[in-house]
Amino acid sequence: MNQYAGMARAGGNAALCDLRSDTVTRPDAGMLQAMAAAELGDDVYGEDRSVNRLEAVLAERLGKEAALFVPTGTMSNFAAMLAHCQRGEEVICGKGYHVNAYEAAGASVLGGIALCPLPVRADGALDPAEIRAAVKEDDPHFPVSRLVSLENTHNGLAVPLADMSAAAEAGRAAGLSVHLDGARFFNAITALGCAETELAGLTDTVSVCLSKGLGTPAGSVLVGPADLIAKARRWRKMLGGGMRQAGVLAAAGLYALEHNAGRLAEDHARAADLAGELRGLGAGDVSQATNMVFFTPAGGRNDDLRAHLAAEGVVIGGGGSGAIRMVLHKDVDDGALGRAVQGLRRFYG
Ligand SMILES: Cc1ncc(COP(=O)(O)O)c(C=O)c1O
Repeated sequence: MNQYAGMARAGGNAALCDLRSDTVTRPDAGMLQAMAAAELGDDVYGEDRSVNRLEAVLAERLGKEAALFVPTGTMSNFAAMLAHCQRGEEVICGKGYHVNAYEAAGASVLGGIALCPLPVRADGALDPAEIRAAVKEDDPHFPVSRLVSLENTHNGLAVPLADMSAAAEAGRAAGLSVHLDGARFFNAITALGCAETELAGLTDTVSVCLSKGLGTPAGSVLVGPADLIAKARRWRKMLGGGMRQAGVLAAAGLYALEHNAGRLAEDHARAADLAGELRGLGAGDVSQATNMVFFTPAGGRNDDLRAHLAAEGVVIGGGGSGAIRMVLHKDVDDGALGRAVQGLRRFYG
């Protein structure tokens, strides 16, 4: 069953505070205006000026030669892996990283690429020694190790630059290339307090999502060396991701880079407030990093809590009795967060 089934029914349009994910954000009036005013063309012909501008802006900001606009983060990671690897080659990644756990094994199923998942450390990083040990020797029994795929942020954790660098170096020393799934690249930059080029410079390619904390309706951008991006462009066409007047979406991305990338610290601060409130209630285990809070209600009261909050217009995610993820984003302002806090206090009061 789809892990999100049922949550949509609980949320829908009626939710006053939707904490399931930062993907639920809707374009605001300014973004819609930018979309309506976008200069358009056929992007498969390379003629959409808004897409071309978005690609140029992100390539420049992240210090890379080229960029490719794609519909989703999944396609961006997939096109990157296909551009880096041939059939029978291998991507070393984290077990809980999105490329391994949540992309329906597309790299293996459709790309003939093996995934070699390693344990992810508590801080979200991969252990360089584990990477070195995972690289295969040249032997026909083994896949050819080709790529290390990192993730930042991972479950909200902003992985420090030194750890990213150590993991990337472990791969490079063995002749591997390095990709970063930066679905929440700007949350990572915000939390690490570093320049965009400092994080992006550690890996060959970076996938950045516009549709999460940045708040666009769709779109991700893959940045990297020109030859790899040219290969990824061919894969995008083959995967059915060559869009035409995609500038309506690219304009939303340009707007988001200008107006929303700089406000993510607000989401992180609200997440810290929510975590503080939950800790104060003493009602279960709480952890928080960047815009994400994970709460495991004591006594397995997940379903009761979810139903109680839903009745108050507050939607939280997750099924079962494990940790409930609550994600702060631009559509949860102080009023909406206050609603969630009141709902929690009433439940535990
Ligand atoms: C870390 C990470 N990478 C990639 C993706 C994939 O993005 P999309 O949903 O746009 O395919 C997600 C989605 O939530 C994600 O969290």
